[in-house]
Amino acid sequence: MNDRTRLTTVETVSENRSWLFTVRDQYGEPDEAVLVPCEDSVEHDSTSSRSGDDGVAAWINRCTHEAQRFDTGRGVAMRDGHLICPKHGSMFDACSGYCDNGEAAETTLPSVDISVDDGVVYLTDDDLTFAHAGGIDDGDDGNDDGPASTSHIGF
Ligand code: FES
Repeated sequence: MNDRTRLTTVETVSENRSWLFTVRDQYGEPDEAVLVPCEDSVEHDSTSSRSGDDGVAAWINRCTHEAQRFDTGRGVAMRDGHLICPKHGSMFDACSGYCDNGEAAETTLPSVDISVDDGVVYLTDDDLTFAHAGGIDDGDDGNDDGPASTSHIGF
């Protein structure tokens, strides 16, 4: 599939330090994802994810340890190229998604496929469709928000 959806620009992600958006999986269930700057040029295996090749990486907005969001509406806490989990403080490499410390040690964040073209970030993940910018709640403005029976995210 060649579908891609424009998300935002690399510049916007850099300026805001993260960019939260909502996607839907193949069953129509919403989930949150975040774009974060990925500035270091660590060579990582080209196994599955190409995140980080273009100065931005995208991850599901949820810690691997517990259902804790990284961005709770005020941006992702970042330090030294790592996302910091607000709950127990594990730090995840912004480029690889890997965590080698704390409660979430030895885990890797689920990645979201994106591409960057001329400074614009596109969602290219075959399993996900773009719902809207912002968190899941930001899209609940009286539309047909049925009961989110399978939400993994606690608010
Ligand atoms: S919930 Fe993230 S480290 Fe525990």
